[in-house]
Amino acid sequence: MDANGAKEMAATTPEESLPLGPDETRQSRFANDLIIKLHILMKVSQIYDQKNVALNQVVQGSLELINHFLESEGSLALKVIRDGIFINGKRLKVGVESYIGFKFVLEQLKKKRVGEIRICAVLDETMLKKFIYHLMNLSDGDEDNARKLHDELKRLGIKSIEVDPLEIFEEDEFFAGHTNPKEAGKKLFFETIGVIKGVVTGIKKNQFIDARKMKRMVQGAVNLMVKDESILLGLTTIKNYDEYTFNHCVNVAIYSLAMGRRLGFSKKILTELGMTGLLHDIGKSKIPKEIINKPDKLDDDEWRLMREHPMTGVEMMLKIKQLGEMSPKMVIGVFEHHINCDLTGYPKLIRKKDLTLFGKIIKVADCYDAMTTPRTYRRKPYRPEQALAIMVREKNGFDPVLLKVFIGIIGIYPIGSLVLLDTNEMGVVYETNPDPQHINRPKVILISQSEGRRRIGPAVDLAEMDGETKRYKKSIVKALDPKKYHVDIVEHFL
Ligand SMILES: [Fe+2]
Ligand SMILES: [Fe+2]
Repeated sequence: MDANGAKEMAATTPEESLPLGPDETRQSRFANDLIIKLHILMKVSQIYDQKNVALNQVVQGSLELINHFLESEGSLALKVIRDGIFINGKRLKVGVESYIGFKFVLEQLKKKRVGEIRICAVLDETMLKKFIYHLMNLSDGDEDNARKLHDELKRLGIKSIEVDPLEIFEEDEFFAGHTNPKEAGKKLFFETIGVIKGVVTGIKKNQFIDARKMKRMVQGAVNLMVKDESILLGLTTIKNYDEYTFNHCVNVAIYSLAMGRRLGFSKKILTELGMTGLLHDIGKSKIPKEIINKPDKLDDDEWRLMREHPMTGVEMMLKIKQLGEMSPKMVIGVFEHHINCDLTGYPKLIRKKDLTLFGKIIKVADCYDAMTTPRTYRRKPYRPEQALAIMVREKNGFDPVLLKVFIGIIGIYPIGSLVLLDTNEMGVVYETNPDPQHINRPKVILISQSEGRRRIGPAVDLAEMDGETKRYKKSIVKALDPKKYHVDIVEHFL
């Protein structure tokens, strides 16, 4: 098995304990022995320098164990996931004798932000010593440690050991210190824009891409989306003209996540879908800005370049080593995001094929966000309800079921719409009604005018009825153009 194979194995969902067979007993014993040896090695390296003889015996013992395992298994992957250690994909069942060692190794790897160590070929004494000393000398809490250690191993010519950063789960990290999910959402939204900007700039300059950071952001978004979808959906009303490309990528990720959630995707698949949304247009980073922002029609050559961006995106995704965990679904999603359901659009397909769910979801999200955002060639964007109406008319473009799901999320009066109520008040839609029967009854923030002054609030649920008359207290009459009424929609979501 090669290093990637080992990585794949280690990344698979670990199975929970069944009665141990002879092989499993052997593996479990090995895992416990390994942790004990690693614990001693780490400890000794903190006390003695590399030349001290006291070290040799410990190194020898560990080497025998590791190399023996490599001979039979081909590779060895030790991975930290939350509070567990997994050896070649199997969770370490900690025995009494290895408990202290397990605690120590887990704590050290977490501190050093190293989440995975893969050994893919037999080691010698020097290699193991150098590795342990460099690992233990890393400063605590530095997110860049795995990359630094990786570079150091490369410099030392040690090819048989690979390391990856610790995966921090957003649930643990992102909501810590944020009791208010709305605040957490805002932070996450703006930080993700920064991260995707960093990824694109990094790709352009052929620099190291921190794809893990991006994944953590998406995991945070998935958790928030599961808790309360209206927070992130509300933030998509920020249509930042200057940062269009990055803002657009984040919005597409959010819309896609909301759709994936309604379709019942698992958190793992949602994370992949969110990443696809973030990366769907990376191919555009290779197109000159003048073409992207050209206010006039594109000429034939410019169009040809523009049409290449899904394929360029695929090539770029495959090149980013740190995106090793990327699934084919994600790459195909990027490839397909401009292909219509009747297979028109671009890139042109040589053979007929069914489009993937990822591709079709991203297409809906992408198109809606592009239509509702001001651009150099269309300063006045479509209002949300206008964009949805156009998309519904375009019969061959979108998967009809997915479009229905999307309209269910966005509502016929989408989040961020300005509406006129039968009470003569205006309202900004901030949460759609999940009940399809009451799709026209979202929650709104009231905007009323009295004595020449505008009052904002309170928030009301249009599904509320009057106890006595048994009639709805307020209903929407029609959608309004926010520009005409000088209403800044975004301020209601910040
Ligand atoms: Fe695109
Ligand atoms: Fe796009």
